[in-house]
Amino acid sequence: MSEFNFQQNIQIKRVILVSSVVIFLMMGTYLNNTETQFETYEYPAISESIRERPIRSTTVARNNSYYDIMNMPQIEFNNLYKNPCWVGTDENGPLDDEKFHCLPYFYILGVKKSGTTDLFTRISKHPQFARPDMKESQWLTRIRFGVNAQYKSVQAILQRTKLDVRSVGFYVSMFDTAASSIMRTVTNIDDRAPYFRMITGDATPANLHMHTKWSKLPGNEGLTEPKYTNFHYIKHLTPEAKIIIIFREPVSRMLSDYLYLNRLRPTLIPEKFHRDSVRLTKAYEKCFLTYSQRRCIYNETLKETLRKTGTGMTPSFTAGFYAFYLKEIYEVFDKSNVLPILMTDYTENMKNVLSKVFDFLELDQPSTEQWKPILVKSIENESKFKRVKMLSKTKRLLEHFYRPHNEEMAKLLNDSRYLF
Ligand SMILES: *[C@@H]1O[C@H](CO)[C@@H](O)[C@H](O)[C@H]1NC(C)=O
Ligand SMILES: *[C@@H]1O[C@H](CO)[C@@H](O)[C@H](O)[C@H]1NC(C)=O
Ligand SMILES: *[C@@H]1O[C@H](CO)[C@@H](O)[C@H](O)[C@H]1NC(C)=O
Ligand SMILES: *[C@@H]1O[C@H](CO)[C@@H](O)[C@H](O)[C@H]1NC(C)=O
Repeated sequence: MSEFNFQQNIQIKRVILVSSVVIFLMMGTYLNNTETQFETYEYPAISESIRERPIRSTTVARNNSYYDIMNMPQIEFNNLYKNPCWVGTDENGPLDDEKFHCLPYFYILGVKKSGTTDLFTRISKHPQFARPDMKESQWLTRIRFGVNAQYKSVQAILQRTKLDVRSVGFYVSMFDTAASSIMRTVTNIDDRAPYFRMITGDATPANLHMHTKWSKLPGNEGLTEPKYTNFHYIKHLTPEAKIIIIFREPVSRMLSDYLYLNRLRPTLIPEKFHRDSVRLTKAYEKCFLTYSQRRCIYNETLKETLRKTGTGMTPSFTAGFYAFYLKEIYEVFDKSNVLPILMTDYTENMKNVLSKVFDFLELDQPSTEQWKPILVKSIENESKFKRVKMLSKTKRLLEHFYRPHNEEMAKLLNDSRYLF
């Protein structure tokens, strides 16, 4: 091979390499965006697809015990603020730094791949919303265990605060940007005192189904099902928290989630999705025969066993058990503090649903001018690739599998639309 040809060959290889990377990235975007035709969101998301990496010694203290949230004294919030906020002192709160801090007023608790990002982005355009640094903190599910701690926004907080990522103080610090806008904005002054009406929130959909390492956390050791879940931790940190959950038809949700997590060549997906669906549904059906639903759904070993056999989407498969998780939330929060939303209702009657969300969050209804940015249309609705479809046998299998769970959901909410 002549020198010229050799160079040319390298050039061609480079072009191929670069274009495959571009195609791969485009595919990622495509797989991410086709199912939900919403606008791209503005916050740096912490990608669900980032794999667990070794924990850096700087991000986690050396010993392996985790901060005991349930035994932490509850924070006394300052009632001049609508949002849960306070000044950190020795007697109050996890940070003794004399600084102003806030925790979320509301949480979007899932379900993953049902439009949570779109909803959060639209809420965040409300004039009484104070933006946090990120759409989802992922603190309860990942960051506090050092997972995803390499993420840029997490590292920035680490540099600034020098706090242990496991500490509640670290979670609190994730809302410092929001806290400073809440503190600066006196929105209502009556005769007695100023009142601060700005609120902030955390839209971590994994909080619904990822109760990471629950069996190792204080109070849960040695149990077969958790005494404390993410819902208890949220309640303990912010007792008046408002909870929003969007529910999407579970079979299409599962495919969307699967495509997001398994960025294979589209042609390979339908068969693999079928095989994995068979494995997942069989494993849970088998478990339900022996143990309680609760024990099976929280069984981390079961998830790990499935993952080790190469089954896709094992971490979030359980997210489809809507009625189960909603009942778990109702065990912890008053029903009046929980707003379930049907995704089709949201996409078809967006203004109406957002209006209900604003009422639920006790925000003012936006003016005509303020509605404009909130209701801005999606631009990202054209795909260059053909949409990946599931095989009809997979659809039948999954619909059959989810039917009793959907029936439970329809009963729970007295709404037949949840039969999907
Ligand atoms: C481990 O860390 C926790 C929290 O930082 C601390 O309270 C505890 O004393 C430590 N345990 C050991 C054995 O060092
Ligand atoms: C969880 O699942 C594994 C594997 O399927 C099983 O061996 C184990 O007994 C289960 N654990 C509980 C607490 O049910
Ligand atoms: C994208 O949305 C616009 C406006 O809603 C619509 O006219 C157009 O047909 C859509 N394109 C695709 C590919 O769905
Ligand atoms: C359930 O909904 C129906 C109609 O939507 C209503 O008539 C009925 O009173 C509701 N039942 C309960 C228990 O709320």
